[in-house]
Amino acid sequence: MNAARRPGLVIAVDGPSGAGKSSTSREVAARIGCAYLDSGSMYRALALWCADHGIAATDPDAVVAAARQLPMEISASATGFAVLLDGMNVTDRLHRPEVSGMVSGYAGIREARNALNARMRAIIADAGRIVVEGRDITTVVAPDADLRVLLQADPARRIARRQAELAGAADARTVTEQVIGRDAVDSASSQFERPADGVVLIDSTELTLQEVVEKVIGLVPAQLRTPDPA
Ligand code: C5P
Repeated sequence: MNAARRPGLVIAVDGPSGAGKSSTSREVAARIGCAYLDSGSMYRALALWCADHGIAATDPDAVVAAARQLPMEISASATGFAVLLDGMNVTDRLHRPEVSGMVSGYAGIREARNALNARMRAIIADAGRIVVEGRDITTVVAPDADLRVLLQADPARRIARRQAELAGAADARTVTEQVIGRDAVDSASSQFERPADGVVLIDSTELTLQEVVEKVIGLVPAQLRTPDPA
Protein backbone atom coordinates (compact mmCIF):
# COMPACT_ATOMS: atom_id res chain seq x y z
CA MET A 1 0.00 0.00 0.00
CA ASN A 2 1.45 3.34 -1.01
CA ALA A 3 -0.24 5.89 1.23
CA ALA A 4 1.33 8.79 -0.68
CA ARG A 5 -0.64 7.82 -3.81
CA ARG A 6 -3.99 7.65 -2.10
CA PRO A 7 -6.32 10.60 -1.64
CA GLY A 8 -6.52 12.02 1.87
CA LEU A 9 -9.65 11.09 3.80
CA VAL A 10 -10.75 11.93 7.33
CA ILE A 11 -13.89 10.28 8.72
CA ALA A 12 -15.08 11.47 12.14
CA VAL A 13 -17.46 9.27 14.15
CA ASP A 14 -18.97 10.50 17.42
CA GLY A 15 -21.58 9.06 19.74
CA PRO A 16 -22.41 7.90 23.26
CA SER A 17 -21.05 4.69 24.77
CA GLY A 18 -22.47 1.48 23.35
CA ALA A 19 -23.64 3.04 20.08
CA GLY A 20 -21.17 0.86 18.16
CA LYS A 21 -18.53 3.48 17.34
CA SER A 22 -15.47 1.28 17.82
CA SER A 23 -16.63 -1.78 15.90
CA THR A 24 -17.99 0.38 13.09
CA SER A 25 -14.95 2.65 12.86
CA ARG A 26 -12.43 -0.20 12.88
CA GLU A 27 -14.30 -2.11 10.21
CA VAL A 28 -14.78 0.94 7.98
CA ALA A 29 -11.07 1.78 8.34
CA ALA A 30 -10.00 -1.77 7.47
CA ARG A 31 -12.37 -1.96 4.48
CA ILE A 32 -11.35 1.30 2.82
CA GLY A 33 -7.68 1.34 3.75
CA CYS A 34 -7.52 3.94 6.50
CA ALA A 35 -5.68 4.29 9.79
CA TYR A 36 -7.86 4.24 12.91
CA LEU A 37 -7.81 6.36 16.05
CA ASP A 38 -9.87 5.60 19.14
CA SER A 39 -9.68 8.98 20.90
CA GLY A 40 -11.36 7.53 24.00
CA SER A 41 -8.26 5.39 24.51
CA MET A 42 -6.18 8.55 24.80
CA TYR A 43 -8.43 9.85 27.60
CA ARG A 44 -8.30 6.43 29.20
CA ALA A 45 -4.49 6.44 28.98
CA LEU A 46 -4.37 9.87 30.63
CA ALA A 47 -6.63 8.65 33.45
CA LEU A 48 -4.59 5.48 33.92
CA TRP A 49 -1.26 7.32 33.94
CA CYS A 50 -2.57 9.91 36.43
CA ALA A 51 -4.01 7.23 38.72
CA ASP A 52 -0.74 5.27 38.59
CA HIS A 53 1.15 8.47 39.53
CA GLY A 54 -1.17 9.57 42.33
CA ILE A 55 -2.71 12.47 40.38
CA ALA A 56 -6.42 12.87 41.13
CA ALA A 57 -8.95 14.44 38.76
CA THR A 58 -9.60 16.97 41.52
CA ASP A 59 -6.12 18.44 40.86
CA PRO A 60 -6.63 20.01 37.41
CA ASP A 61 -3.22 21.74 37.24
CA ALA A 62 -1.43 18.43 37.76
CA VAL A 63 -3.72 16.69 35.24
CA VAL A 64 -3.07 19.37 32.60
CA ALA A 65 0.69 19.06 33.17
CA ALA A 66 0.37 15.28 32.81
CA ALA A 67 -1.68 15.61 29.61
CA ARG A 68 0.97 17.89 28.09
CA GLN A 69 3.85 15.56 28.92
CA LEU A 70 2.12 12.19 28.72
CA PRO A 71 4.68 9.60 27.53
CA MET A 72 2.09 8.06 25.21
CA GLU A 73 2.59 6.49 21.79
CA ILE A 74 -0.29 5.40 19.59
CA SER A 75 -0.27 2.77 16.89
CA ALA A 76 -3.17 4.09 14.81
CA SER A 77 -3.93 0.88 12.93
CA ALA A 78 -7.39 -0.60 12.34
CA THR A 79 -6.12 -4.14 12.88
CA GLY A 80 -3.47 -3.46 15.53
CA PHE A 81 -4.56 -0.37 17.43
CA ALA A 82 -2.33 -0.01 20.49
CA VAL A 83 -1.49 2.52 23.18
CA LEU A 84 1.92 2.57 24.85
CA LEU A 85 2.60 4.44 28.07
CA ASP A 86 6.26 4.79 29.04
CA GLY A 87 6.95 2.22 26.32
CA MET A 88 4.59 -0.38 27.85
CA ASN A 89 1.62 -1.65 25.90
CA VAL A 90 -1.39 -0.76 28.11
CA THR A 91 -4.12 -1.26 25.46
CA ASP A 92 -5.85 -4.07 27.37
CA ARG A 93 -5.75 -2.26 30.71
CA LEU A 94 -7.55 0.77 29.27
CA HIS A 95 -10.94 -0.91 29.12
CA ARG A 96 -10.99 -2.24 32.66
CA PRO A 97 -14.02 -1.09 34.70
CA GLU A 98 -11.87 0.97 37.10
CA VAL A 99 -10.58 3.05 34.18
CA SER A 100 -14.09 3.41 32.71
CA GLY A 101 -15.26 4.57 36.13
CA MET A 102 -12.72 7.38 36.47
CA VAL A 103 -12.01 8.55 32.90
CA SER A 104 -14.83 11.12 32.65
CA GLY A 105 -13.47 13.08 35.62
CA TYR A 106 -10.13 13.57 33.85
CA ALA A 107 -11.79 14.17 30.46
CA GLY A 108 -13.79 17.03 31.96
CA ILE A 109 -10.68 19.21 32.39
CA ARG A 110 -10.70 21.67 29.49
CA GLU A 111 -6.96 22.32 29.21
CA ALA A 112 -6.22 18.60 29.39
CA ARG A 113 -8.64 18.14 26.47
CA ASN A 114 -6.81 20.83 24.50
CA ALA A 115 -3.51 19.01 25.03
CA LEU A 116 -4.94 15.69 23.83
CA ASN A 117 -6.74 17.36 20.92
CA ALA A 118 -3.41 18.70 19.65
CA ARG A 119 -2.00 15.16 19.68
CA MET A 120 -5.08 13.82 17.86
CA ARG A 121 -4.70 16.45 15.13
CA ALA A 122 -1.02 15.52 14.71
CA ILE A 123 -1.94 11.82 14.35
CA ILE A 124 -4.68 12.71 11.81
CA ALA A 125 -2.28 14.86 9.76
CA ASP A 126 0.38 12.17 9.84
CA ALA A 127 -2.00 9.38 8.79
CA GLY A 128 -3.60 11.19 5.84
CA ARG A 129 -6.38 8.61 5.61
CA ILE A 130 -7.99 7.88 8.96
CA VAL A 131 -11.21 7.08 10.80
CA VAL A 132 -11.36 8.82 14.19
CA GLU A 133 -13.98 8.04 16.81
CA GLY A 134 -14.93 9.83 20.00
CA ARG A 135 -17.33 12.39 21.43
CA ASP A 136 -16.19 15.70 19.93
CA ILE A 137 -14.36 14.69 16.77
CA THR A 138 -17.10 15.98 14.44
CA THR A 139 -17.36 19.28 16.31
CA VAL A 140 -13.99 20.19 17.87
CA VAL A 141 -11.12 17.94 16.79
CA ALA A 142 -11.88 17.57 13.05
CA PRO A 143 -14.83 19.79 12.11
CA ASP A 144 -13.46 19.89 8.52
CA ALA A 145 -13.45 16.09 8.15
CA ASP A 146 -14.56 14.74 4.74
CA LEU A 147 -17.35 12.79 6.44
CA ARG A 148 -18.81 13.38 9.90
CA VAL A 149 -21.17 10.89 11.47
CA LEU A 150 -23.03 10.81 14.78
CA LEU A 151 -23.85 7.23 15.71
CA GLN A 152 -26.80 6.91 18.05
CA ALA A 153 -28.85 4.02 19.49
CA ASP A 154 -31.62 3.68 22.05
CA PRO A 155 -30.26 3.50 25.62
CA ALA A 156 -31.73 0.01 26.14
CA ARG A 157 -29.89 -1.28 23.07
CA ARG A 158 -26.64 0.40 24.11
CA ILE A 159 -26.85 -1.14 27.56
CA ALA A 160 -27.60 -4.57 26.09
CA ARG A 161 -24.59 -4.32 23.73
CA ARG A 162 -22.23 -3.30 26.53
CA GLN A 163 -23.54 -6.14 28.67
CA ALA A 164 -22.91 -8.62 25.87
CA GLU A 165 -19.37 -7.26 25.43
CA LEU A 166 -18.68 -7.69 29.15
CA ALA A 167 -19.99 -11.27 28.93
CA GLY A 168 -21.49 -11.36 32.42
CA ALA A 169 -18.49 -9.65 34.09
CA ALA A 170 -20.81 -6.92 35.47
CA ASP A 171 -24.45 -7.00 36.57
CA ALA A 172 -27.22 -5.11 34.75
CA ARG A 173 -27.36 -2.28 37.29
CA THR A 174 -23.61 -1.64 37.07
CA VAL A 175 -23.65 -1.65 33.27
CA THR A 176 -26.63 0.72 33.19
CA GLU A 177 -24.88 3.07 35.58
CA GLN A 178 -21.69 2.93 33.51
CA VAL A 179 -23.40 3.65 30.20
CA ILE A 180 -25.98 6.22 31.28
CA GLY A 181 -23.94 7.75 34.11
CA ARG A 182 -20.81 8.19 31.97
CA ASP A 183 -22.82 9.77 29.12
CA ALA A 184 -24.37 12.23 31.56
CA VAL A 185 -20.97 13.35 32.87
CA ASP A 186 -19.40 13.36 29.37
CA SER A 187 -22.18 15.49 27.93
CA ALA A 188 -20.94 18.35 30.12
CA SER A 189 -17.66 18.45 28.13
CA SER A 190 -18.83 17.44 24.63
CA GLN A 191 -22.03 17.74 22.63
CA PHE A 192 -22.72 14.29 21.14
CA GLU A 193 -26.45 13.93 21.67
CA ARG A 194 -27.57 15.81 18.56
CA PRO A 195 -25.74 16.08 15.23
CA ALA A 196 -24.09 19.44 14.58
CA ASP A 197 -24.65 21.12 11.20
CA GLY A 198 -23.40 18.90 8.37
CA VAL A 199 -23.07 15.82 10.60
CA VAL A 200 -24.97 12.73 9.40
CA LEU A 201 -27.04 10.97 12.07
CA ILE A 202 -27.12 7.18 11.92
CA ASP A 203 -29.37 5.38 14.39
CA SER A 204 -27.98 1.88 14.87
CA THR A 205 -30.78 0.64 17.17
CA GLU A 206 -32.29 -1.67 14.55
CA LEU A 207 -29.19 -2.18 12.42
CA THR A 208 -26.52 -4.87 12.41
CA LEU A 209 -22.86 -3.89 12.50
CA GLN A 210 -22.50 -4.72 8.80
CA GLU A 211 -25.49 -2.53 7.94
CA VAL A 212 -23.99 0.42 9.81
CA VAL A 213 -20.61 -0.14 8.15
CA GLU A 214 -22.23 -0.20 4.69
CA LYS A 215 -24.11 3.01 5.46
CA VAL A 216 -20.93 4.82 6.51
CA ILE A 217 -18.94 3.56 3.49
CA GLY A 218 -21.85 4.56 1.25
CA LEU A 219 -21.52 8.13 2.54
CA VAL A 220 -17.81 8.41 1.65
CA PRO A 221 -17.36 10.43 -1.55
CA ALA A 222 -16.64 7.82 -4.27
CA GLN A 223 -13.34 9.38 -5.37
CA LEU A 224 -11.98 9.10 -1.81
CA ARG A 225 -13.06 5.48 -1.27
CA THR A 226 -10.54 3.60 -3.40
CA PRO A 227 -6.79 3.84 -3.93
CA ASP A 228 -5.70 6.29 -6.59
CA PRO A 229 -4.71 4.11 -9.58
CA ALA A 230 -1.99 6.59 -10.67
O1 C5P B 1 -15.01 5.99 23.79
P1 C5P B 1 -14.68 5.59 25.20
O2 C5P B 1 -15.86 5.09 25.95
O3 C5P B 1 -13.52 4.64 25.28
O4 C5P B 1 -14.21 6.94 25.88
C1 C5P B 1 -13.78 6.96 27.21
C2 C5P B 1 -14.01 8.33 27.79
O5 C5P B 1 -13.13 9.26 27.20
C3 C5P B 1 -15.41 8.90 27.60
O6 C5P B 1 -16.30 8.42 28.58
C4 C5P B 1 -15.14 10.40 27.74
O7 C5P B 1 -15.04 10.76 29.10
C5 C5P B 1 -13.75 10.54 27.13
N1 C5P B 1 -13.77 11.00 25.75
C6 C5P B 1 -13.95 12.34 25.51
N2 C5P B 1 -13.85 12.81 24.23
C7 C5P B 1 -13.59 11.99 23.22
C8 C5P B 1 -13.43 10.61 23.44
C9 C5P B 1 -13.56 10.14 24.73
O8 C5P B 1 -14.19 13.11 26.44
N3 C5P B 1 -13.45 12.49 21.98
